[in-house]
Amino acid sequence: MTTSATEPVDSVFTWFREMHDKNPIQRDDEYGWQLFRHGDISRVLTDPKTFSSDTVRLYNEPQPDFDLFLMGNLVTSDQPHHRKLRQVINRVFTPRAVNGLADRIARITDSLLDEVAGQDTFDLMETLAYPLPIIVIAEMLGLPAEDVPLYKGWGEALGALDAATPPPEVMENEIAPAIREMNEYILKHVAIKRENPADDLLSGLANATIDDKPLRDGDLIGLVGLTLFAGHAASMAMVGNALLTFDRHPETFAAIRADRDLLPGAIEELMRLYPPFSRVARVTTVETEIDGHKIGKDELVTLWVGSANRDPERFPDPDTFDIHRDTSGHIAFGQGIHFCLGAPLARLEVKIALNALFDRFDRIEVDYSGLEFEDPMQIICPRTLPVRVTR
Ligand code: HEM
Repeated sequence: MTTSATEPVDSVFTWFREMHDKNPIQRDDEYGWQLFRHGDISRVLTDPKTFSSDTVRLYNEPQPDFDLFLMGNLVTSDQPHHRKLRQVINRVFTPRAVNGLADRIARITDSLLDEVAGQDTFDLMETLAYPLPIIVIAEMLGLPAEDVPLYKGWGEALGALDAATPPPEVMENEIAPAIREMNEYILKHVAIKRENPADDLLSGLANATIDDKPLRDGDLIGLVGLTLFAGHAASMAMVGNALLTFDRHPETFAAIRADRDLLPGAIEELMRLYPPFSRVARVTTVETEIDGHKIGKDELVTLWVGSANRDPERFPDPDTFDIHRDTSGHIAFGQGIHFCLGAPLARLEVKIALNALFDRFDRIEVDYSGLEFEDPMQIICPRTLPVRVTR
């Protein structure tokens, strides 16, 4: 077995450790101020007044289609609007709504795995990890699952705007039309739900109010668009990262298979060790200071979550995969007012997907020759994860 194919991810964690130990607060042109220590990062996440989430304004020119989406985008909103948006979505995205999905998630998982019945090898990302979370969230919203292929292009368009200004012709010919199409699609489905409400998130949002007024088009587009896209990439990453880690720790893998009660602890440890989003960003609203470093107003601050989760001062022996450790305080789902809305759903999806794989296959081995990763500075996630299975 060769594990050198995991090098792109391993080298990011080596870099985190080096920076954490030698240069835990530093500045560069791409990421602005970069923080690597758990304590510093936690301090920023819990001070939204000094550290705003509205980072988009730093690198994007106004663009009407994207601006509409941003109106309701929780992740980049600040108080008081963030609180109002979050109250609206909390009312529909309830624990009951999430727990009620368990059977449906299991059935979708089964039908996806049925598609590779009889095959000894398949790409886990393409077969299960990618489609499962996007189908689940589309159904939860009340959007047609057969439109999933459309969502991929929109997700890519939004992703391209995440931390960069694309060239004007790419913006005009590719990104803006995709976002416009998404905006129109969401509003069309909101109108359908207003006419014929159902038991889904979109119906709840379509009829919700902020300050006694119906939500603006932009609020609806942002909330729906974000919910559709925020979750699936990271949940997909978790399934891939889990299988990869189990493959490299066969004894722990066997123990979890034998005692499924160990799975929730293992998932939390995997979140700590391989947080899909290795960084989150903020921008300063005033001049401030962190550990003796003066940071000006309107400065980008990059928080390396992947480094905080392996801070030896917070997690002893941090690079070791230990499913029995106390993982509390990991920040893979963020911290403070922007704490991930979908954390319970992500945990449930990953648990159901892994249990289904264990039930169906006696052995699951990674074929490292075909393993590829996404850019780990963006997301820690295999792009392709070929597996060999034995039933
Ligand atoms: C393993 C899977 C997931 C990971 C690692 C993850 C991670 C995160 C992180 C780090 C944040 C905070 C961002 C910040 O502070 O700037 C966040 C926020 C958010 N996540 Fe997730 N997420 C996951 C799954 C999901 C799912 C399934 C959903 C679907 C509903 C979702 C919806 C959201 C939303 C709406 C926010 C914004 C919350 C706010 O700003 O108030 N996430 N997530």
